[in-house]
Amino acid sequence: MGFKKGFFWGGATAANQYEGGYLSGGKGLAIQDVITGGDGRNNIPRRIALKLADGTTTFIDRRGTEVPAGAVPYVDENTYYPSHVATDFYHHYKEDIALFAEMGFTAFRMSINWTRIFPNGDEAEPNEEGLQFYDDVFDEMHKYGIEPQVTIIHFDLPLHLATEYEGWLDRRTIGFYMNYVETIFQRYKNKVKYWKTFNEINFCRDYTNLGITEANSHPEKVEQAVFHMLLAAAKTVIRGHEINPEFMIGQMINESEYYAEDCNPEAAWKRIQDKRSRVFYTDVQNKGFYPEWKLAELKAKGIEIKMEEGDLETLAKGTVDYIGFSYYSTSVSSVRKDAKRTSSNLESAVKNPYLKANDWGWQIDPMGLRIILNELWERYHKPLWIVENGIGAIDTVEEDGSIHDPYRIDYIREHIKAMKQAVDEDGVDLMGYMPWGCIDVVSAGTGEMRKRYGFIYVDMDDEGKGDLHRSRKDSFYWYQKVCKSNGEDLD
Ligand code: BG6
Repeated sequence: MGFKKGFFWGGATAANQYEGGYLSGGKGLAIQDVITGGDGRNNIPRRIALKLADGTTTFIDRRGTEVPAGAVPYVDENTYYPSHVATDFYHHYKEDIALFAEMGFTAFRMSINWTRIFPNGDEAEPNEEGLQFYDDVFDEMHKYGIEPQVTIIHFDLPLHLATEYEGWLDRRTIGFYMNYVETIFQRYKNKVKYWKTFNEINFCRDYTNLGITEANSHPEKVEQAVFHMLLAAAKTVIRGHEINPEFMIGQMINESEYYAEDCNPEAAWKRIQDKRSRVFYTDVQNKGFYPEWKLAELKAKGIEIKMEEGDLETLAKGTVDYIGFSYYSTSVSSVRKDAKRTSSNLESAVKNPYLKANDWGWQIDPMGLRIILNELWERYHKPLWIVENGIGAIDTVEEDGSIHDPYRIDYIREHIKAMKQAVDEDGVDLMGYMPWGCIDVVSAGTGEMRKRYGFIYVDMDDEGKGDLHRSRKDSFYWYQKVCKSNGEDLD
């Protein structure tokens, strides 16, 4: 059996971590452009420089501390910001796409920078230079028969929308976003068929994604903003199908498995609760309504979501065509207070003694991928697409320039085997596989460059030093065989 004909083999990136050119070609400032680098292994967080309402300035941990009301982020000239150059797709796209083609990619996932199209987010007219850039990129991909898969928002919000409107808290942001969506759908309707709305929508609960101040102490603001985002996602699906009925518009969720720690029924119940941080979003975007437990939870917290007439119908009508998800590692559902913890993707996890972890503590679990594929398929019966997977690791460049990364090959090989079992033995409908950071990009969690995922190495370090030249790692040649054999040759 094996993977179906037309299965998409490729890789995934995001504009804020890859593109650079942060003010080039008329681009405006996004929140991502005011987030500093950090150091994940030494627990130094990424930060944001703020001008406070009383005129003083300060730096805050971009996730641990909430942005106070009235504070305005700014670019501190003595600080390094990794998104500004990133790994410079903006100036290297031709070279990079040629390398993807050489590897045998049939699809490539990227995101559009909202601020390249609408620099402030609320303009009526788009920035032509920004639109032209993506036209050129898509043309270059089609030259090699590579299908674009576009994320409309990848952890991306124009800074102006945060400071002037409190981002997604304000319903007007849905209108600004839909103007952006209308613009890119009309412009690229004959070049892009596969779209995704919000990257890892389940992680969009803080200032950097929602643009709301006092997020930690005001859960009602977070829930309102998330509702606006879900509504915007549903509107995107509806409008997209009107513009081009061929469009396939998916959701994008971060998936992780939670294993009940033992046969204590309390641990089994904890697992159900832990999984709800994902199930809420997959239910809304596939079934078209808020699950009953979520409504009960909001009621218990005294949170009432403000809605307008027709909103519930929009949610019901705008369900997705496929489920795109990222998968890196898993966790354990434990009811013990002293359970040992480790880090994971933008959250912390409970340690699993059966699993090994990478240098950043993310637990490696190929079987978890098979479990997730089965759970999603059984629950929704929608085509699935793995749009991120991979291992962040420190690579060493040898004297002769070669890079030996057997750990990366092992990780991906074992995950492809799990995918194959899910397809062959469990009957899961899987559309494609796009390992994360197929070319080295800035880490989203830590802002580091040394945490690398790529098959292609980029000469750039954690301080922004490097000449950005590209080179092929051992995994490049291995993944080339995988792509070209439709996943049959994994040796
Ligand atoms: C996902 C994101 O959370 O995981 C990516 O969609 C991110 O943007 C990836 O880069 C890996 O995380 P990190 O922190 O290692 O870059």
